[in-house]
Amino acid sequence: MIKLDATHLNADIDFKSYQSKVSKINDMIVNRNGPGNDYLGWYKYPETYNKEEAEQIKKYAEYVRNNFEVLVVCGIGGSYLGARAAIEAINGLRQDNGLEIIFLGQTFSTDYVYDVLNYIKDKKFAINVISKSGTTTETAIAFRLVKQLLEEKVGKEEARKAIFATTDPEKGALKQLSNQEGYVTFVLPGDVGGRYSVFTPVGLFPLACAGINIDELMKGAYDAMTEFDNDDLSTNTCYQYAVIRDYFYRHNKQVEMFVTYEPRLVQLGEWFKQLYGESEGKEHKGLLPDSATFSTDLHSLGQFIQEGSPVLFETLFIVNKPNHEIIIPHDNDNLDGLNYLENKSLAFVNEKAYLGTLEAHTKTGGVPNIILEVEKLDTYTLGYSFYFFMKACGMSAYLLEVNPFNQPGVEVYKKNMFHLLGKKGY
Ligand code: PA5
Repeated sequence: MIKLDATHLNADIDFKSYQSKVSKINDMIVNRNGPGNDYLGWYKYPETYNKEEAEQIKKYAEYVRNNFEVLVVCGIGGSYLGARAAIEAINGLRQDNGLEIIFLGQTFSTDYVYDVLNYIKDKKFAINVISKSGTTTETAIAFRLVKQLLEEKVGKEEARKAIFATTDPEKGALKQLSNQEGYVTFVLPGDVGGRYSVFTPVGLFPLACAGINIDELMKGAYDAMTEFDNDDLSTNTCYQYAVIRDYFYRHNKQVEMFVTYEPRLVQLGEWFKQLYGESEGKEHKGLLPDSATFSTDLHSLGQFIQEGSPVLFETLFIVNKPNHEIIIPHDNDNLDGLNYLENKSLAFVNEKAYLGTLEAHTKTGGVPNIILEVEKLDTYTLGYSFYFFMKACGMSAYLLEVNPFNQPGVEVYKKNMFHLLGKKGY
């Protein structure tokens, strides 16, 4: 499903030398006895997830699709990036399938929040507030604002029927509020951290509301889970990818650039950055995950990649077949000189751009490229790919000897901010 092409690494990696380390770590994952093991709920989640809740999610999503124009999703970090990445990847950047999904709660920007509130004020909107802790300030402020707008518009009673909360099954401020207000509530399992939560209701409810087939997504995830549930480094491409990353980290690379040729995958790059950045960037270790979209960024970052400091390698996520075809037309005047491309598809041009860039970066520029190839980008493939990157991330962080599932550094800015805001106890 994901083909790993390791022929452009400019390196001869001895995978066998990694085998025993990989086997030990795989045991740690299987037996759930490594650091952070209480957050390994994602590992078997495509098999163990609550199917009844998934049916409820589909039912409520249908209700939202039939009764509202907009769904406002309030969440930040792991509580929104996966859903946003999936919705853009599947539905594209010009959503036109009945219900508009708008993300809020990921910023304190007055102008962004104002624009959203102003845009939705005359629309029929529902809210999905997502927060595991229930206390994340960005999300909580956004929710308070959007909830008040809704209550003023339709009254408290109707508003209750339009608010869906996704949070911890037992604790937290949002859980308490949901109980009190009687909101429909979905469960973010206690043993799944935010950045590993795309297959939980955190991702599934917004996706279902966006008209995406969540069963297909979970089928893709399930197949990836089954395929990569072994420690054989000669065949397990997920672990091979983790090993290659580790090799480059130990051979003077500081940055991994996640590259696609599809603008609808820009948010997948954002999801990727959070997954790897929060999982690995600790104890002064880890690769800095960055992302770029080509050919767009070949006209900006391309110069640096080609000839700048040799700090990075690229991980290309290549989609072989687009979902549509566009043919370049003939032009009688040919003033733009493009008739040599007439009757050729845009996909043909994109592919040549990719192959030309691959050669330029790897051969001329000496920048290693890992190529991950999928045939097409559908919901199944996306589910498979999310799982692939999550599992590889677990292995990769354990190879670095850090806990993949905590994020202690994130608290530092919060403490300072709370102190400056005058929050009690800071
Ligand atoms: O990956 C993570 O754990 C974080 O990015 C969280 O998802 C993010 O901070 C939001 O937290 P919460 O869901 O508690 O609001």
